[in-house]
Amino acid sequence: MTACRPADPAGIAHAARLLRQGGLVAFPTETVYGLGALATDDAAIARVFEAKGRPAVNPLILHVATTAASREFAAFDDRAEALAAAFWPGPLTLILPLRQAAAISPRAVAGLDTVAVRVPGHAVAQSLLAQVGGPVAAPSANRSGRVSPTTAAHVLADLDGRIDLVLDGGPVQIGVESTVLDLSRPGRVGLLRPGGLTRAAIAAVTRPLDEPSSSPGEPVRSPGLLLRHYAPRTALRLEATDVAPDEALLAFGPMPPTGAVATRNLSAKADLAEAAHNLYAMLRELDAVGARRIAVMELPATGLGEALVDRLRRAAETPPDTAP
Ligand code: TXA
Ligand code: MG
Repeated sequence: MTACRPADPAGIAHAARLLRQGGLVAFPTETVYGLGALATDDAAIARVFEAKGRPAVNPLILHVATTAASREFAAFDDRAEALAAAFWPGPLTLILPLRQAAAISPRAVAGLDTVAVRVPGHAVAQSLLAQVGGPVAAPSANRSGRVSPTTAAHVLADLDGRIDLVLDGGPVQIGVESTVLDLSRPGRVGLLRPGGLTRAAIAAVTRPLDEPSSSPGEPVRSPGLLLRHYAPRTALRLEATDVAPDEALLAFGPMPPTGAVATRNLSAKADLAEAAHNLYAMLRELDAVGARRIAVMELPATGLGEALVDRLRRAAETPPDTAP
């Protein structure tokens, strides 16, 4: 059994103690819930991979309370300093050269010479990280390949019995993961994962982004960007303009009356921030209604919509075990 405690001062202090002792603690960030472990504790990191069923080749994001704390293990250049100053704390992850003297578990970075780092803005995460006093590796707190958790109940649905504690801070604000930017190669700013911080916001600080390097023809720079990901068990059909009687409907904007098995609307007023906030919870709900398929209406791939469309495309990929 995994304990679940409210993220009040006593709960946060308890969670910080557990983390310092090598425990596994799920906690809220403004993007999604993370599954935390002390990044310098190799045994704890091994347990994170085991609890999630995560492939060992997929490195973790290190979370710290301040930019200053991240300089201990990540090498910043001028671009990195400018982006950190503009967007931290916030939904941005930077891939930077790993400082070799740092005591980070090699398992946490999957043996790479780069490291992913983020300073989250959520008050609970901030307070927890400040009390732990060292970097906390935290992938999203779901089983590998599945939908990321935006509530404590989602975390327990995937990881009950596999981790020590969930800190319940209520539903998260943003609802999709952080934007991952690769700054590890001189002169390039690569967008590895669209997320809670938009391309336009980043481009206002740095020059326009290079396209995702996982586009066809180029090797995948981010091991986690395997095609099928963020996926419910039920199959998805994208850009639906109609819905069959045995399908569930995930709508966006005004919608016609339907005879679907079940319907959720990401945002009746077609607001992308509201849609991001609802996406994962609604996918989980529609996954549970026993429909043959989930039909998803079209969303604009602009602003925050770029991340939403990215997640839906990955969720809609044919699972490897049923691929023809
Ligand atoms: O919003 C978020 O980013 C959440 C919260 C908890 O912070 N975390 C999260 O972690 O989404 P995760 O592990 O689910 O996704 C991290 C992504 C993966 O795609 C991983 O491959 C990539 O970051 N990544 C981590 N380290 C990397 C590195 N050194 N080089 C390239 N990609 C890296
Ligand atoms: Mg994840």
